[in-house]
Amino acid sequence: MNVGLVGLGTVGRALASWLADSGFQVKAVSSRNRTSAEKFATQLGAKSLPPEQVAAASHLLFITTSDDAISEVCGNIARHGFGNCQAVFHLSGALSSLALAPAEKAGLGAASIHPLGSFTDFQQARKLLPQCWFTIEGNERGLFWAERVLTRLGAKFRQLSKEKKPLYHLAAVFASNYLVSLLAVAAEIWEDLGLEPDEGLWQLAEGTLANIRNDGIFHSLTGPVKRGDLETVALHKEALAKRPRALELYCQLGLVALDLSEDLTEEQKQKMALLLRKETFQ
Ligand SMILES: NC(=O)c1ccc[n+]([C@@H]2O[C@H](COP(=O)([O-])OP(=O)(O)OC[C@H]3O[C@@H](n4cnc5c(N)ncnc54)[C@H](OP(=O)(O)O)[C@@H]3O)[C@@H](O)[C@H]2O)c1
Repeated sequence: MNVGLVGLGTVGRALASWLADSGFQVKAVSSRNRTSAEKFATQLGAKSLPPEQVAAASHLLFITTSDDAISEVCGNIARHGFGNCQAVFHLSGALSSLALAPAEKAGLGAASIHPLGSFTDFQQARKLLPQCWFTIEGNERGLFWAERVLTRLGAKFRQLSKEKKPLYHLAAVFASNYLVSLLAVAAEIWEDLGLEPDEGLWQLAEGTLANIRNDGIFHSLTGPVKRGDLETVALHKEALAKRPRALELYCQLGLVALDLSEDLTEEQKQKMALLLRKETFQ
């Protein structure tokens, strides 16, 4: 099966390498930066060509550009024709296969194949991709080919409808991007105390994630909100008086924690909710 890729960033290069190592013929690749595309193509034994020629040389085309460029790249290729290409894929989590409308209009399979991972560089992405869950969505033909590719790669995947993609993706943002943001708040406070995050903070976070995996969300929550410890929460709020953004986050997440605190009485819950919503610190 001949495959081609347009967009040789972190994920595009890692995917191309994984496909090649799994027996797919990566025939041609393309990227805006022609020098690095040629270098990468040589390493892979592929050709570096303009996008429309990549499509013509491939049965399956992966548009692995940044999200903003997917529609434009697909539209530009459509103007030249897709040749023998059977299906076009993109890897965006938020966008649906509608971003590939010109391919669908030309009678091709069109699908989004989203790897549920956080990829920071080529080496890390190449290692992580085969362990990821993938979420696929698309037209019938696109799904057919997406399933064939992922099965051959030995990847775990499930299907989702177009309409659910934004919700799906924002849940992933909570679990990854905003987890990083949350830990950045904790690390900043830690460093202000003269401590390194390596001195216990990362271990705490890793232990919490391990607890969630092993015992589930409800069983993993500990801390003052769950205990109904009003004085401790008041003390925390006071300590955050000069950090309004962290205070707001603390209170909002405290309310989420309160929803998970099943052992508290209604009265304890009400008092805690009041304290978390209160703007003063007493
Ligand atoms: N990174 C992640 O954690 C992650 C996770 C899941 C899914 N994804 C998805 O994977 C896709 C690629 O993301 P990425 O992280 O690999 O992004 P990236 O590292 O920024 O790479 C995107 C590449 O697209 C190329 N490009 C942009 N516009 C182009 C155009 N008009 N024609 C040809 N090439 C173009 C750029 O090429 P040049 O370098 O040559 O300019 C760039 O290297 C996106 O759809 C993203 O949503 C990413």
